[in-house]
Amino acid sequence: MITISNVNKIYDNKFQALKEVNFEIQKGEIFALLGPNGAGKTTLIKLICGLTNATSGAVTVDGLDIVKNFRQTRKLIGLVPQELTTSPFETVWNTVSFSRGLFGKAPNPGYIEKILKQLSLWDKKDNKLMTLSGGMKRRVMIAKALSHEPRVLFLDEPTAGVDVELRKDMWQQVRELKETGVTIILTTHYIEEAEEMADRVGVISSGKIILIEEKNKLMKKMSKKEIKLVLGKPLSAIPSSLSNYDLKLTDNSLIYSYGDANNTHGVSDFFEQLKKENIEYTDIKTHESSLEEIFVELVNK
Ligand SMILES: Nc1ncnc2c1ncn2[C@@H]1O[C@H](COP(=O)(O)OP(=O)(O)OP(=O)(O)O)[C@@H](O)[C@H]1O
Ligand SMILES: [Mg+2]
Repeated sequence: MITISNVNKIYDNKFQALKEVNFEIQKGEIFALLGPNGAGKTTLIKLICGLTNATSGAVTVDGLDIVKNFRQTRKLIGLVPQELTTSPFETVWNTVSFSRGLFGKAPNPGYIEKILKQLSLWDKKDNKLMTLSGGMKRRVMIAKALSHEPRVLFLDEPTAGVDVELRKDMWQQVRELKETGVTIILTTHYIEEAEEMADRVGVISSGKIILIEEKNKLMKKMSKKEIKLVLGKPLSAIPSSLSNYDLKLTDNSLIYSYGDANNTHGVSDFFEQLKKENIEYTDIKTHESSLEEIFVELVNK
């Protein structure tokens, strides 16, 4: 749906925000773009939406060049920007309806009603935007982005400041949009959201894409698993029969790390060895790395 080829962005003050960015976004997928503050996520999104120009390189949306075919490609895109930009004196209903008109779509009050209801904004439809709470304003931005029935939706930090319950509703709606074939690109600093939602993950750091991977593969490849045994009595040393295992001994615990999830025999063998060695334990804790831990490790590297 989107191809990004050799894109560089150098701002007027000579700061290079994007460095040789190359990747594709597939039709109908949920793609999470993750990266620390200042990594270049918003710059890349603005560039694809035509709000800023690339210094070099090219981007296509649905096969069309975004510069040569600006109107056509922009019409395909809905954008929920990171910065809230709303006109304070306008009502919810008017601002969302107006957005639809900007893209040359015929009025469709039934559709606007549907999205306002889905976003729990229906009872505020006649309110001026200045009278809404922060999370409500954020949801108005989403309604505006959906107003012209886009085929690609960019969500730049859409859930910042939105409460837990509404955030869950919002992600449910995103899943429903995906069902209808909409391609979704999101950024979030709540990495557990990306872990739950994304089909693929891209990590950007200092303007460079450092990884693009299917989420499930990434989790499998990078995930570390650990079993922590709380020892019944302290061990003076790790017995030699256990030297093949990746173990760490502390005062009252023995921690077994066993890398990726494919290593199934290791665990039962390990417990058999423990029995042979008469190692007593009073509790077992297991831990598996989250996408958040994997992300932090990647960015630090
Ligand atoms: N108009 C501009 N002029 C100069 N530098 C800019 C401009 N806009 C952004 N930058 C710089 O480009 C870099 C990337 O900014 P960007 O907003 O894309 O980051 P981000 O990944 O979206 O971060 P965040 O997670 O904080 O939203 C930053 O160092 C920022 O200061
Ligand atoms: Mg940003």
